[in-house]
Formats: sequence, C-alpha cells, structure tokens
Amino acid sequence: MQRINMAAHSSSGTGFFRTLLSRCRTSGPGKSRTPGLCQQHRCRLSSLPPLPPPGTWSSRLSRLSHRDLYRLSVTDPDQFWGSAATDRLRWVKLFQRVRDCDLSGGKISWFLGGKLNVSVNCLDVHVEKHPDRVALIWERDEPGTEVKVTYRELLETTSRLANALKSYGIEKGDRVAIYMPASPLAVAAMLACARIGAVHTVVFAGFSSEALSGRIQDAQCKAVVTCNQGVRGGRLIDLKSTVDAAVKSCPSVQHVFVSQRTEQPAAMGELDVPLEKVMSCQSSVCPAEPLDSEDVLFLLYTSGSTGKPKGIVHTQAGYLLYASLTHQYVFDYRDGDVFGCVADVGWITGHSYVVYGPLCNGATTVLFESTPVYPNPGRYWETVQRLRITQFYGAPTALRLLLKYDESWVKKYDRSSLRTLGSVGEPINHEAWHWFHSVVGDGRCPLVDTWWQTETGGVCIAPRPAEEAAPILPAMAMRPFFGIQPVVMGDEGEPLPGNSVSGALCISQPWPGMARSIYGDHQRFVDAYLKPYPGYYFTGDGASRSEDGYYQITGRMDDVINVSGHRLGTAEIEDALDEHPAVPETAVIGIPHDIKGEVPFAFVVLKEGVGGDPPAVLQQLRDLVATKIAKYAVPEHFLVVKRLPKTRSGKIMRRILRKVATETTRDLGDMSTLDDPSVVQEIIEAHELYRKQRSQEKKKN
Ligand code: WTA
Repeated sequence: MQRINMAAHSSSGTGFFRTLLSRCRTSGPGKSRTPGLCQQHRCRLSSLPPLPPPGTWSSRLSRLSHRDLYRLSVTDPDQFWGSAATDRLRWVKLFQRVRDCDLSGGKISWFLGGKLNVSVNCLDVHVEKHPDRVALIWERDEPGTEVKVTYRELLETTSRLANALKSYGIEKGDRVAIYMPASPLAVAAMLACARIGAVHTVVFAGFSSEALSGRIQDAQCKAVVTCNQGVRGGRLIDLKSTVDAAVKSCPSVQHVFVSQRTEQPAAMGELDVPLEKVMSCQSSVCPAEPLDSEDVLFLLYTSGSTGKPKGIVHTQAGYLLYASLTHQYVFDYRDGDVFGCVADVGWITGHSYVVYGPLCNGATTVLFESTPVYPNPGRYWETVQRLRITQFYGAPTALRLLLKYDESWVKKYDRSSLRTLGSVGEPINHEAWHWFHSVVGDGRCPLVDTWWQTETGGVCIAPRPAEEAAPILPAMAMRPFFGIQPVVMGDEGEPLPGNSVSGALCISQPWPGMARSIYGDHQRFVDAYLKPYPGYYFTGDGASRSEDGYYQITGRMDDVINVSGHRLGTAEIEDALDEHPAVPETAVIGIPHDIKGEVPFAFVVLKEGVGGDPPAVLQQLRDLVATKIAKYAVPEHFLVVKRLPKTRSGKIMRRILRKVATETTRDLGDMSTLDDPSVVQEIIEAHELYRKQRSQEKKKN
C-alpha cells in the first residue's frame, strides 16, 4: 500500500509533545489532585456549580445506562457536560464555569476560563499513546490506491503546514479559506489553523469562483489553501483557476498556498506559494497555541432564506466535545474501528464526522475522494470490503441512486465488517432506508437516521444512543441526543405538550456544540434562530412527535431547499437569475425529485421585446447560476411566465407556484390575498404546455 510522503523527521514530534504535556500536566484531566481546584492557576471552582473530579466520566458516568445519562444531561447539564469536558478533553487550563448561556439574549458560552488546543486533542494525545495508529485513510478516486496516514505523520504534516502559515504571517484570529476536496492536506490545513489559532473556513470545492470570493470577502480571509486540480469520478477538475478568478476581487488575500494533487503544474502568480515546497523547509514541530474555549475554531457558510449565505461560527471546546461525544455514542464507535463517513470536508458533516469527532476519539477515519458510482455502482461496498469499514455514514440521495441498480453490486462484496449504518442531510424515504438496512446491512446493523444542521455542530436527534434492544423505527430520527431537549411549537408559538403533535422544531436548552453566531452579524443570528421563539433555538425545520414520543422531521419551514443533501436558499438562486438584464423577476421553489430529494424549479418573467429567443436566455440563466453559485444549484426546470402571483402588498405567493408545479389537482388553496387571480390561470396553462413538451421530449429520447 502506498504511503503519502509526509514528514521526514519523525522523532521530533514526540519531544515537542512531551514539552507540551509537561506544561499541561498540572491541570489536565485526571491530573488535578483536588476536585474543583485548577492546580496550575490556583483558582477555586467550587464557588460555581461543583465540577465532578476528573475521570468520573469513565468511572461513574460510563456505568450509567444511556437512559440515565440522558436524564442527567437534561436535569444537571453542568454536571454532565462538566464531567464530559474534563474527562474527554485535554486542557492547558481547566475551565472555571461550565456554561453561561441566555438564549433570549443571544449569549452562548461554554467552559469559561478554559484554555486548550483542538489540534492537540486530535493529534498529540493520540501520538502519545499510539503514534503508528492510522488516523486517515485517503480513499482516492482510483479504487485500490488508498493512502494511509498515521497519527504521527498527521501531526508532523499539520505542524509543517502550521509553520508554513506562520512564516507567511498568518496569526491567531486570521481567517484562512480552504478550497480543497477531501485529502490529508485538507485535514492538515484545518488542524494547522486550529494549532495556531487561525480560523478556517472550508469552501466546498464544487462552488464557483464567485461563490468562493463572496465567502472570502465576507470572512476577510488573509490566505487561501487550495490544490492545482481535484480528481473525481475519473475527471480532473481545475481548482486553482477557480481560486485565481475568485481572489481577483478579494484584496484581503495575501497568499494562496497551492498543493499539487495531480502532475499538472499549476500556473503560479504573485500571490501563490507552492505548499509542499514550503512545508518541506519547515520544522515538523509547531507549538500549539493555548486558546480560550470560546475562541473561534471555524466558520462554515451555509444557506438561509435570504440571498446571502451565512458564516456560521463554531468555537473550540464545546464544538469539539460535542463532535466527539456524538461520534462515539450515535455510531457506537469503539477503539480499532474504521469510520467511513463519505461526506466532503466542505460540509459540516465532513467537519464533525470525517475530521474533528473521529480524530478527537483517536479513530481511523476515511477520506472519500470519489463518487458512489465510480468506476461502477459497487464502489462504496468494494471500499467497505477493502478498508474493513465498521461504520458507514452517507446521504440518502446516494442511496436512492444506488438502489436502482442490481443488488449484486452490493452483494458481491464482503460487508461483514460493518456494524452501524447512518444517513444524514435530508429525510430518508422508506424505500432507501429498507434497502440500506436489509441489502447493505443484511438486516443486522442498526441504521441511524441522524438529524442535525450546520448550526447544531453535531447530531441532535438520532435513534442511538439507546438501550441495546431499543427499537429503531425506519426513516425516523427518533430520540434526542444527550443534552438536547426538542420542543414542538404550535401556530401561536406555544410549546405543544404530549404526543401526536406536529409543528416547528425548537430546542429548549443550549448545548455545547451549537453555533455561537453568524460571522460579522450577530443580530442576524439572533433574528434567525433565537427571536422566532424567544428562549428557544429555532431550527427552521418542522417536526412531529409520534404517539410513542419519537421525533420525525417533516422538512424545512422556510425557503431553504435540499438538493442532493446540499442546502440551498431559493433566494440565492433568484438573486443569481435576477442579474440577467432580460429578467426582471423570478421565483424559485423546490419540487420533489426521486434521486436528488428536491430540485429547484424557476419561474421566470422575461422583459418584453427580449422574449425573441427564450431558449438562449434560459441557457444564459443556467450558466449564470453555475457561475454565481455552483452547478448543483442550476434549476432543473425553467418556466417562462408573463407575471408572478403576488399578494396586494407585492409578496410573491410561492405556495401557489409550488402547488402548480407539483400537483395534478387544481385546488390551489386560499387565494383571497392574491392581487390578480387571472395570473394563476396563465401560469397553469404555461405549466401544462411545459409538461406536455417535456414528456414529448422524453419519449423522443
Ligand atoms: C435537513 C446537514 C431530515 C434539515 C447535517 C436540516 C434532515 C438541514 C436530516 C441541515 C434528517 C438534515 N432528516 N432532514 N436526518 N438531516 N436534514 O446544515 O432540513 O447542511 O435543517 O446540515 O438538512 O442541513 P446542513
């Protein structure tokens, strides 16, 4: 098996690690002699809610049943999270207070007064115990060419990269954009930022240059880390040229670090720094910056109901603790497992369950570079067999695609290593759930439908943990994780008691993994998540609580849609379309799609006189969305209409458009607030014609 050419000096890391260890020794978990006293800083913790002595998680709490742990987590969050944080994380300085939160006031702080370093928790602590354990298996695009990276190698690579960033002036608090597909260097770049206290913002490498520059500008990034090309499904994707185009409008960027994923040399300009070359001149030791629990760890941009993506802010200790605890308990992670989450590092799932959760737990984690169908629809299961994957965590959209192929693509591979299956990102339909459970898992692996969001940091509702024999119902997230108290809200904003209710899904108590803010706009954070139901975190999703008390997510309540598990604001697409000079107005909605879950449907009004060649305009509109956002955001359907249905106050009634586009019955609901009902008839007729044309085209093909 091939090994990536990592650090040449392999012994120095341990020396460095010892120094850091001795620094932490007085206050690290399990090191303090007096419960409630931080030895190094001689500060009393007992004036605050008493902290359990370090180590109690493993001795006392680990003996509790999952049911009792949950009960403790909601009745005594200070004790629960305090124990978890002291026992599971290595602190440079132990925190003095577990939490200081006021959801109504927009204040969320955990583990106050504590200092730690996330990269130390993800690397050094494991290098100390098992330096040669494999941290990453880079499952590269071409099957059978995987690369294994040990904890020692990953620490050294991270340290070199961190030193390289420092030598180019990147300091604590600076923002660094990472525009790379899943690879060891992408992980090292994230951890290198964490090591020196820089804030990373990973941008999914499928986003266009304009989407990338918008994020870089919003975060005022000082540097970008990228690679020359990506490799996916046998195709080469030029990434460097996308970055070049993006940084033209980003004066904050001083350096672009370019690594070489392929042989093809990238054209290097003034800002560009050859990453591997500068890393090779750097020391493989880099002291870790002690950071406050609430210093920012990363920003991750995600879609909301307005056109502008929001930079969700996650901080150090709370996020890491929550990612690690959920990774262990939801997926039943055990020492020695090979954890296979096939999400890209550009999404929150990649952050929490490819990088931070698994690495904090000392796991071997898989970085999947390819696609579910390359070189054939057996790719996932061949990978499971070859790497002996124990947990397989993926998106329903991929499962819906794969179940259309013959079962032999699954059955011919040995899947006996699998112990837990998981799905994430969108509702999983019953057919996909059953196929995953019975065909892939042979009916013997628990399958967890995990509900969570970029904003929640980690899984919030999932069937596990639960007592061993507790049932898992198909296609249902079911149970709240430790510390999570879901509330279903009624139309008047009141919590609905009892079972068999449905409404808006809120969470009533803060938890350590939750987002702290929107970068540069805390008020927007408060308005979007905390104001709609004062005193609660509002998820934006609807949910029901079944007669047995289990949670079922019913879908978004705002104008956010979910295309192949990727979150998109319809307003973002509308903003892109509206830039076309011939398009005065558009309305985009999501409609169901059997593989992608949802696809965007655009209703477009064309300026009079320009309507000469609508097909050409529509092609320009497609290109516009691909350039402004990403290819996956391009609407599947375009319908040219004369006018859009509006209320008397001028608001577009998307509800009516949704009905026209999805229903065959013509009951469009209450239209009393419509300004001009004749618009609807026009749209229905245009849609009928469009449907007929589409089905004729399909027949021809
Ligand atoms: C949706 C992905 C149903 C939901 C981790 C949420 C789900 C949004 C599920 C967050 C699920 C995620 N069942 N819907 N198991 N998981 N969603 O931020 O609408 O990319 O609000 O985070 O995806 O998407 P995001």
